[in-house]
Amino acid sequence: MKRKNIAAANWKMNTTVQEGIKLLEDLCQQSLNSETQVVICAPATHLHGLGLIESPANVAIGGQNMYTKEKGAYTGEISGSMLVSAGVSYVVVGHSERRSYFAESNDFLGEKAKSALAHGLTPIFCCGEGLEIRKAGNHVSHVIAQLKASFALLSDEEVAQLVIAYEPIWAIGTGETASPEQAQEMHAAIRAFLTEAYGSETAEGISILYGGSVKPANAKEIFGQADVDGGLVGGASLDPEGFAAIINSF
Ligand code: 13P
Repeated sequence: MKRKNIAAANWKMNTTVQEGIKLLEDLCQQSLNSETQVVICAPATHLHGLGLIESPANVAIGGQNMYTKEKGAYTGEISGSMLVSAGVSYVVVGHSERRSYFAESNDFLGEKAKSALAHGLTPIFCCGEGLEIRKAGNHVSHVIAQLKASFALLSDEEVAQLVIAYEPIWAIGTGETASPEQAQEMHAAIRAFLTEAYGSETAEGISILYGGSVKPANAKEIFGQADVDGGLVGGASLDPEGFAAIINSF
């Protein structure tokens, strides 16, 4: 199976509803590579409105978070059904900002991915190491351990439906990008782990995205690596022309 090239925007906690609508409308005015799967991961307040915008068939809407329970007394949380009812088809799971600020554990993130899949949502499952771990040379083992711990809760069929995003924490919002070689090293290691644990057909079918200061100026080189199938883009996704250039960098 040919895996998809994906350019996913993570707007994080940016834009009002009106600004977000304008941002997607402006993006849709650009000429976008129709072969790239585009995913706009927006704040929960924006999702339904974004889904109503007439956009090209390759543009999907994603949530940035969801809870594992179906419904009930969980004030402030959003279920998979709610995301689906808002027109969402992807959801970010396990971003490093949720792991660190909201203490989300590998186990909990495995449950979230399982719940997302049960609702027909595609999780964009994030992993990545901090600077200390990178400096100590333990980055590969750290990331594989994160994935192993979370994926233990998933069946082989469930793992095959994931998108994975490798985001080195030291490269997020810092302007410091992993070099194409550093990205490729990790992506190849993730694919080798997937091959060993789930077989080559599954491993070859999973899109592995790189995230961390992806910009129009560096996207082509990063996406050109053999095991890099796209990007999860924060800051640069807030500029429609710049994000269009990233979408067109494959
Ligand atoms: P930046 O592109 O702003 O570094 O953010 C990356 C990220 O965290 C995407 O999820």
